[in-house]
Amino acid sequence: MRKKIIIGNWKMNLDFESSNYLIQEIISKSENINVNIGIAPSFVLLDEAIKNTKYSKIKVFSQNLSEYKSGAYTGEVSASMLLSIGVENVIIGHSERRSIFNENHSILKNKVENALLHNMNVVFCFGEKLEDRKSNNYFKIISKQLKDSLFNLDVNLWNKIILAYEPVWAIGTGETATPEQAQEIHSFVRNLISENYSKTLSEKISILYGGSVKPNNAQSIFSQKDVDGGLIGGASLDSNHFIDIINSI
Ligand code: PGA
Repeated sequence: MRKKIIIGNWKMNLDFESSNYLIQEIISKSENINVNIGIAPSFVLLDEAIKNTKYSKIKVFSQNLSEYKSGAYTGEVSASMLLSIGVENVIIGHSERRSIFNENHSILKNKVENALLHNMNVVFCFGEKLEDRKSNNYFKIISKQLKDSLFNLDVNLWNKIILAYEPVWAIGTGETATPEQAQEIHSFVRNLISENYSKTLSEKISILYGGSVKPNNAQSIFSQKDVDGGLIGGASLDSNHFIDIINSI
């Protein structure tokens, strides 16, 4: 059985007080829920989030990390800094990092290798832009994204990897992939892993869907056989919406 996982990507939202409040709400409302739950606050809120979630089942994810180990990289945050405050999980390759901050395949590959070298768990995001979908080019784009940044990895490292399919045209737009569109890509990706590694590995990897998941569409997406959970942006900032989504899995 693959792990079912829901992660809230808080992006550049919330501050010290509102983040603490949201964490308390999520903890109290998820006490009896048996799903793997994660939250990804901004860097400055991670330390407090680790402390606040210590006795709960909530896992804390960083939204990013540096591709470099240490040194003269003003403004960067390293894997070992994250580990030193107890953050063992990181999101890499979010489309906002790719498009706004120009993170290309080689940067992402370095980030993944760096995180794995530090034994961190990685949620690796991939997904096509609207023009790729319209031109029917999306299978090619997605396989390139995965091949360029991940398929060099030794098979043993894949137990630290979770994938997240996030069609760029569905992120923050209110437009969601249909359950069939999500399933099509998730099963395509599972086949790619099977071709490049093995069927056994492809069956073990959790593949999350992200892009305008809301309480009213979560269940239909999560019911698809290759969808193992979600990476939730906007709706994760409201504890009731987030819990409804978690309960939909
Ligand atoms: P959204 O964001 O749910 O607000 O569309 C998803 C994401 O970017 O991870």
